[in-house]
Amino acid sequence: MIKVGINGYGTIGKRVADAVAKQPDMEVVGVVKTRPTHEARHAIKNEYALYANNMENVQTFINEGFEISGTLDDLLDKCDVIVDCTPGKIGAMNRPLYESKGVKAIFQGGEKSGTGDVSFNAQGNYATCLGKDYVRVVSCNTTGLCRTIGAVEKKYGVKKARVTLIRRGPDPGNSKKGPVNAIVPNPVTVPSHHGPDVNTIFPDMDIMTSAVIVPTTLMHLHTVIVEMNNPATTAEIKQLFKSTPRIILVKASEGITSTAEIMEHARDLGRKRGDLNEIAVWDESINVIGNELFYIQAIHQESDVVPENIDCIRAMFELTKDADESIAMTDRAMDL
Ligand SMILES: NC(=O)c1ccc[n+]([C@@H]2O[C@H](COP(=O)([O-])OP(=O)(O)OC[C@H]3O[C@@H](n4cnc5c(N)ncnc54)[C@H](OP(=O)(O)O)[C@@H]3O)[C@@H](O)[C@H]2O)c1
Repeated sequence: MIKVGINGYGTIGKRVADAVAKQPDMEVVGVVKTRPTHEARHAIKNEYALYANNMENVQTFINEGFEISGTLDDLLDKCDVIVDCTPGKIGAMNRPLYESKGVKAIFQGGEKSGTGDVSFNAQGNYATCLGKDYVRVVSCNTTGLCRTIGAVEKKYGVKKARVTLIRRGPDPGNSKKGPVNAIVPNPVTVPSHHGPDVNTIFPDMDIMTSAVIVPTTLMHLHTVIVEMNNPATTAEIKQLFKSTPRIILVKASEGITSTAEIMEHARDLGRKRGDLNEIAVWDESINVIGNELFYIQAIHQESDVVPENIDCIRAMFELTKDADESIAMTDRAMDL
């Protein structure tokens, strides 16, 4: 059993903890919080040992009546790998500590690509990460792009890809960020960082991305145009997406006409927190004209990277060298 610690128990960290707990070959040895918030209460309720990020904060937890198991430093002595789910840029500051303790670490997409020695997407480059010590799982948007464009690349070859990303403002649990009433080019420059980030997984892919942020919390949405090397029909692309793990087709004709209905669909599936770990592609949007493929997809930013973190652990410890086997194992345990 691989012993996993989670540093940063927020949107991503709490989901990664739950996903690790479900796997047959790994276990959660503890989670780290800085403050005694409601999420710390949930960690205790979920029976995760709770650690403070430093000695000073241990006392704050004790003052609030929390049972606390020690500090991040103590947790690092007990785990084989730490999944760093702290807010962007903190992971890079934490890496020297992980190195000094000889503990492998996974970083998230909010970190610069150089924070890990290599970036990770299970379907894109599992083999590249075998045995590695410091790896970064790419962001939610990059994960979505790698899953669908990567599937097309594998089967038909991609000459070039052009994507517009319509990004959610904040996550649903965040009342402090906007925009409330504006559409914000973010970044205003082209390409956005997403295309270059896809290149950390598919180095030779010709991909350009531009991005805006809109006043919604539910999901990101991408409009994608791919020029293919080899011919495919619309029906063949639908079949490809249908048969690829972690991609689902949704239909406007069945009432799923927006990200709101996709999230309702996820809640109806009975997933914890109403998560949708898969990328949702609208069936009706898939259209091949000549050698160009068009489609529209939605990304549940809070959850699509979660199974990726699990596969990343398996690759780093070479629990299996076969990406498909790891993906199947993860998805079975998570009931996807
Ligand atoms: N949310 C998304 O849509 C999303 C999607 C994909 C990837 N990511 C990436 O995942 C990473 C985490 O993002 P998130 O959305 O989960 O952030 P988040 O919801 O803000 O959670 C981060 C957690 O880390 C804790 N924290 C803050 N400073 C810390 C420190 N020094 N040591 C330990 N814990 C600390 C915070 O809780 P306390 O301070 O209360 O303890 C907070 O709960 C980022 O790199 C982000 O870019 C996010």
